[in-house]
Amino acid sequence: MIVADAPGKIILFGEHFVVKGVPALAMAINLRARVVFNITNNNCLVLDSRIIGRYELCGHSERIERKGDLLKPYLTIIDNEYNRHHNGLYIVIDSQIPIGAGLGSSGATSIALSGGIVFLNKGCVDKTTVYGLAMKAESIFHSKPSGIDPRTSLEGGLILYRDQKRFDKLSYRIPSDIDFLIVNSGIPRKTSLAVTKVLNRYERQKKIMQKIYEAAEELIIEALNTLKHGDYTALGELMLINQGLLNAIGVSYPVGEKIIKMAIDSGALGAKITGAGLGGYILILVEKEKEKKVAKKIEEEGFKDIIKVNYDHRGLHVVSES
Ligand code: MEV
Repeated sequence: MIVADAPGKIILFGEHFVVKGVPALAMAINLRARVVFNITNNNCLVLDSRIIGRYELCGHSERIERKGDLLKPYLTIIDNEYNRHHNGLYIVIDSQIPIGAGLGSSGATSIALSGGIVFLNKGCVDKTTVYGLAMKAESIFHSKPSGIDPRTSLEGGLILYRDQKRFDKLSYRIPSDIDFLIVNSGIPRKTSLAVTKVLNRYERQKKIMQKIYEAAEELIIEALNTLKHGDYTALGELMLINQGLLNAIGVSYPVGEKIIKMAIDSGALGAKITGAGLGGYILILVEKEKEKKVAKKIEEEGFKDIIKVNYDHRGLHVVSES
């Protein structure tokens, strides 16, 4: 049996802007996607997820149950590699990362799935192959993915991401008196729709959008400076400016703005969309001593799904168990 797991992510700065080459800052979090591979002898390939459905290929007979569309991108990862396992594979996906939430669920699952299958074939994890396979699935899930999600899941920690080939794993420590909360807006959304909306606005309003993208680039430079100096008050303010830019490019939404306002009014340092926007989770930066007050206020307004997430330095992890 092989067990592979990889973390979800939050984007601290730069979602959407990164799709057009502006660097972005992402952090792996302690919610993980886990994929278990059992080698079988029944000539069947099974991909099974409690949440997104089940795919079964026995000989030439194929069956897809429940939300087949969400499973299909993952099948492209296995397709390439399965032929070497004619005797059968039973694969179970089990993820702690909410789906359609901006927390990198598909990126983490793709990385864990690719990591496990590459390990099965090669006996080791070759990161270039794993990332390439995961990007195949990501390209089906999202239109024009920048690749930041699977990269963060693969490497873990704090990632300054430029493009598929260029990224840095940063060594800044997040102090123990700072917390990150994520709040479910209750509004489901699709990354591909948000990305398309932004790219269309970019084409229509190129001159102005270019200025906004320049501001997003400046923001990253400033954010790195504040992180280096551990100035979390300034970092919170930069998150709010980032939120303003996200609003300008068209991915903010009223419920999200409401949560952000409640967070700031009750003492948080900063708050913003994380991921594609137009729904999903809102990210809040808060001092530990104010965390309970902020969470209580938001909960009282009916947003009960609030999770405290921690920095996870571990990226993809694959083990062989007997
Ligand atoms: C999704 O987590 C982040 C986006 O920038 C899309 C991408 O970079 O692929 C919205």
